[in-house]
Amino acid sequence: MRLLVLLASLLNVFLLSVRGQTNLTQWPVHNTGFTDAIQWDHYSIIIGGVRTFLWSGEIHYWRIPVPEVWRDLLEKIKAAGFNGISVYAHWAFHAPNNKTLDFTSGARNFEPILDIAKEVGLFVTMRGGPYVNAETTAGGFALWTTTGAYGPLRNNDPRYTAAWTPFMDEINRITAKHQLTNGGPIVLTQIENEICCQRNSDGSLDTPVVDYMIDLQENARAHDVVIPIITNAPNFNTRSWSTDYLPGPGEQDIYGLDSYPLCWSCNLAECGSGSASTAYADHFDLVSPTQPSFLPEFQGGSYNPWGGPQGGCPDNIGTNFVSMYYRHLAAERVTAANLYMLFGGQNWGGLATNLVSTSYDYSAPIQESRIIADKFYETKLIGLFFRAAQDLVMTDRTPFSTAVATTPNVGATVLRNPETQAGFYVARQSDMKATTTVDFKLNIATKTTGNLTVPVFGNAIRLVGVQSKIIVSDFRFGNNTLVYSTAEVLSHSVVDGQSILALWLPDGEFGEFSILGGSKKREVISGTGGGFHQVGDNLVLSYKQQTTQSVLQFDNFRVLLLPRSLAYTFWAPTLTNDPIVTPETVVFVNGPYLVRSLALNGSLVAVTGDIANAATLEVFAPTTYTSLQWNGKTLATHKTSYGSLKASLPKPGLDAATLQKSLTLSGWKFSVALPEADAEYDDSKWVIADHLTTPNPTQPLTLPVLYADDYGFHTGVQIFRGRFAGEATGANLTVQGGTASGWSAWLNSDYIGSFPGIVSAASGALALSFENATLVSSGENVLTVVMDHSGHDQRDAALNPRGILGATLLSTSNTTFTKWTIAGNAGGESNIDPIRGVIAEGGLHAERLGWHLPGFDDSLWATRSPSDGIDNGTIAFFRTTSRLDVPIGYDVSLEFILNSPPGSVLRAQLYVNGYQYGKFVPQIGHQIAFPVPPGILNVRGENTIGLSLWSQTAEGAQVDVQWNVLGVYESAWDPGFDASALQPGWTAERLQFA
Ligand code: GAL
Repeated sequence: MRLLVLLASLLNVFLLSVRGQTNLTQWPVHNTGFTDAIQWDHYSIIIGGVRTFLWSGEIHYWRIPVPEVWRDLLEKIKAAGFNGISVYAHWAFHAPNNKTLDFTSGARNFEPILDIAKEVGLFVTMRGGPYVNAETTAGGFALWTTTGAYGPLRNNDPRYTAAWTPFMDEINRITAKHQLTNGGPIVLTQIENEICCQRNSDGSLDTPVVDYMIDLQENARAHDVVIPIITNAPNFNTRSWSTDYLPGPGEQDIYGLDSYPLCWSCNLAECGSGSASTAYADHFDLVSPTQPSFLPEFQGGSYNPWGGPQGGCPDNIGTNFVSMYYRHLAAERVTAANLYMLFGGQNWGGLATNLVSTSYDYSAPIQESRIIADKFYETKLIGLFFRAAQDLVMTDRTPFSTAVATTPNVGATVLRNPETQAGFYVARQSDMKATTTVDFKLNIATKTTGNLTVPVFGNAIRLVGVQSKIIVSDFRFGNNTLVYSTAEVLSHSVVDGQSILALWLPDGEFGEFSILGGSKKREVISGTGGGFHQVGDNLVLSYKQQTTQSVLQFDNFRVLLLPRSLAYTFWAPTLTNDPIVTPETVVFVNGPYLVRSLALNGSLVAVTGDIANAATLEVFAPTTYTSLQWNGKTLATHKTSYGSLKASLPKPGLDAATLQKSLTLSGWKFSVALPEADAEYDDSKWVIADHLTTPNPTQPLTLPVLYADDYGFHTGVQIFRGRFAGEATGANLTVQGGTASGWSAWLNSDYIGSFPGIVSAASGALALSFENATLVSSGENVLTVVMDHSGHDQRDAALNPRGILGATLLSTSNTTFTKWTIAGNAGGESNIDPIRGVIAEGGLHAERLGWHLPGFDDSLWATRSPSDGIDNGTIAFFRTTSRLDVPIGYDVSLEFILNSPPGSVLRAQLYVNGYQYGKFVPQIGHQIAFPVPPGILNVRGENTIGLSLWSQTAEGAQVDVQWNVLGVYESAWDPGFDASALQPGWTAERLQFA
């Protein structure tokens, strides 16, 4: 196989050297050698023989561990015009220990997301690992590989190979089962993630890494994965694994580049200084000229790191970013791109890294609460266009130039389809960050009508600051051709054999379009159409966009002119589930907050979707259909003068304010939760930490080794108890829980100090005095250290240890620790709760004993609320239950808000029906709002809410916990499914973990 790969690479060098750069017939069409169902060339990916613009978005099933919710999200993705999703797996999520692989419990069975993608009509790029990065603990490595016992990871070390092979066997088995050639949605698969590099800096091959890539590829092929394997380069400089660039072993089928032009983090310093290049076309011409220009990750938003601004940085990557940068992808001749993230979700339990805490909202188009708003709608405008612009899948490019515009500092990149001559002028200001408003005309070359400066009659094209527009020429819709349009194309549909073209403009701007061959009929049926001009055979309409929709009837087609405000709630559902959408399968709908589906049935048009307010539903259906149905209810429908069907959707009976009023959190019960600090505490069942060596490349400062991972505890809070007898005045401790983590110590139940955590350091070293504690005069003293864990670092730093790096007593008589014990998550790697999994919880007393689980009996606990708090340096646990009765037919987005008085130094964790869905550390910031999805939350039933509260000062701490209603929607999607299987309750088995 390796020989074959080498031969293939050599053949490519040959092809590249004989191929000229210009003649389109010379671009080779590739396939994997195992199937030609998916092919690719310089222009695009060809799926089932059809050139396709792959417009995809990233979603991680493990960040939304409720299979029922996947349908809601995938329907929203489809509705925004996407034709694909990309999915990372997560090795640690599936492999609690090195003997167990779980692909069946709860969300660990991710096959439903593939089935739903198929049903909804989305292609899938499977990005199975073994390594994924993704701002998740250890970048997705199985956590037991972080000890050092498997080598430095990500190379051909036999220990590491043996570790990943069973996992990738299963990933590839599932991938093969659901690949396109077997009737499934998976069209591309990625092995590894942003792995660098094929070559060392002196140009020689990095053989351990190259062999690793070959092994991964062979594993996929051995499991009959026949579709293309992709790679994603982390930046412009690595240039690895492309068959077109310095050919060599380890290359994969399609090369891709990841790019986050405005920084992947709200902390811009994480991206270094200097501005990021967006010259993708030049890059692909250099590194992968015979392959499509492909971005397996393009910025969908940015994550909000520990200490980042509350609520993230949505303005930086909001609607302007969407307008400018997603159009820029087209300008760079990109024909396959995946937005990272399209839906972020949450780092529940121990999924977080030290980079980000609970929220992985990512300011993505679909919010972590599942709500869609302006960013989603703006993304939909470009998504529907990419879907409708069939000629965009094959274009040659003339780089950005101001020569095509009549105003200085404005220009366009020109894309032209070499077969049809259709043109796409991607216009913007020269400075992509300019905030000025500019008006300009554009010099365009049309096949049908020659050179023109447009608009010819009307007011100029406008760009308001960071904004881009794609002006089309020779744009085909049905049997008709737009010579040009200065308003942007939204979509087109064919109904009753006639086209409907939808154009949009920001409200109040001017547009002009020209119809090839003109039209005798030119009726303005609704709204103000503007003025018609006859130019040769062509008919030109120049108009000012009204705040309402205008409908124009021509000979054999209609044109809808939509202001952006209405384009946001304009939908183009399809009648089939083919991800490659043809206009004959598209039916236009406008009005609602969301349209999920449309079906034609008898004389009925059945539409499903969501509304938050009263709306008018309008459908441009074939004339034989006379009534509208909304979420199963038939509506009083009338036909408009221009042939659409209209009906009113009344205001939903439930609104957010009413629901908010009905929600209270009361009846809290309380227990202290740190018995371990007591010297007498029985820890005889705990793991004894007595290792004198560690496989970890970082050696401890003192012995025994107190790295929790070496003892099988990889996530969440960990507790260490060190015993000593004799005189000591204090202790020097260095504890490493990851950045933003913290720790506290007690001597014989007396609180002696804390490291509250900082975002700039993974560990904290303190010299703790025993002055305010009582040592026993004879017998053992116990020093208890509780360490919070912010997750494992990513990439090669995943091996950075977590735990106590060094512990010495300050003693004039050389007193030393005689014994250490460790507690982590209940059962360690034994995976006692396969549904939530080892990733779910840590080793707090309350967690080990399952106080956070539904069904735990707290009847003997005292009544006290977290806002009453605790009054000394300790850890406590609070519980209550709260019933929700969301009526059938409604979807809700709910969150918890946690607050504490200014200056608080504490660590709190929120549990909902046994799932840790919030980590609140006010001294670090930023997160106070914690959305929880249905399925974790029972929207029609009882909920067990828990809160661990750890005061990191002797003064105690308090936290106020409130419900917050983010949104209420009358919805076709039901959040009230029975989720009991995802919420196993407390059992007496937990008692053994005291
Ligand atoms: C990429 C990486 C992703 C994610 C992203 C930033 O480099 O491939 O997994 O970490 O950066 O959010």
